[in-house]
Amino acid sequence: MKPAFETRPLSEALGVEVLGVDPSGSLDDGDVAELRRLWLAHCILLFRGVDWTPEQHIAFTLQFGALYTMPGIASKTSTNLSGHPEIMVVSNIKRAGKPIGLRRAGWGWHSDGEDKMVPNMGSLLHALKVPPQGGDTGFANTYKAYEALSPAIRKRIDGRRCRFSRTERHAVNYPNLPPLTDQEKRGRPDVWHPITRTHPETGRTALYVGRWAVEIEGIPKDEGRALIQELTAHAVKPEFTYTHRWKSGDAILWDNRCTQHRAMPFDDDTYERHMQRTTLDGDTPYFVTARGERMESVLS
Ligand code: OGA
Ligand code: MN
Repeated sequence: MKPAFETRPLSEALGVEVLGVDPSGSLDDGDVAELRRLWLAHCILLFRGVDWTPEQHIAFTLQFGALYTMPGIASKTSTNLSGHPEIMVVSNIKRAGKPIGLRRAGWGWHSDGEDKMVPNMGSLLHALKVPPQGGDTGFANTYKAYEALSPAIRKRIDGRRCRFSRTERHAVNYPNLPPLTDQEKRGRPDVWHPITRTHPETGRTALYVGRWAVEIEGIPKDEGRALIQELTAHAVKPEFTYTHRWKSGDAILWDNRCTQHRAMPFDDDTYERHMQRTTLDGDTPYFVTARGERMESVLS
């Protein structure tokens, strides 16, 4: 057997940097299995000094699963890379007066695709240009957040679902974008996900809330909203989080099933920040209760 890759922890909470791997090159099955083992154990993997073509970025990601192509939101033009729709551009740069990517993406704690019936398994974000200050990304370990909940709160939420709503929260989460069109609203129906989610590969339980969560089943709306606020604040306490200060050439692969993340603001009138992301498809969330019953997400 080959020696495992050398790693360096990013924080107490989650994440490792993987050393000695060039993700633009070719990996054999053993390497891929080892990276997946590390990913499942640490929730986020950092690779540094990555210099790859869009094709290589896509090829590397495909070793972890099928790709998901992001639809454009609240605009007719998509923010994906031209010629490579599998790559989403997160950027405040304009060329010829036109934005080349989505500005202010993810400025608030979330996991990717949490407002969809089939959220995204993972995402791989590569930094091409970063501002001299600000624009860090925070990551939270939602296994640890779940494990630290009080028994009283666990009792209130275990086996319940939470409604995630793109339409109710679009204006709050993307104040810089135009409103959703009626067609977009129809295409993004609300979804009820288990608040505690069983990770399909590790079997561990993670807290599953985020910035699109609006209501908890079986709890009056106001009370549910207050509980969501409490849970979302709990999930991102410093002991569960890591803040990444990007250098260009960094690439981070995160697992949306057991983490949340958020982009931290920066002066985007003055500085440029340019990132490219591939996104992995996923599966319908579920939770296996203490009695062994499996409950899945449902559409509203
Ligand atoms: C994302 C996202 C965070 C960032 O790409 O999914 O939320 O820091 N981006 O750019
Ligand atoms: Mn995101």
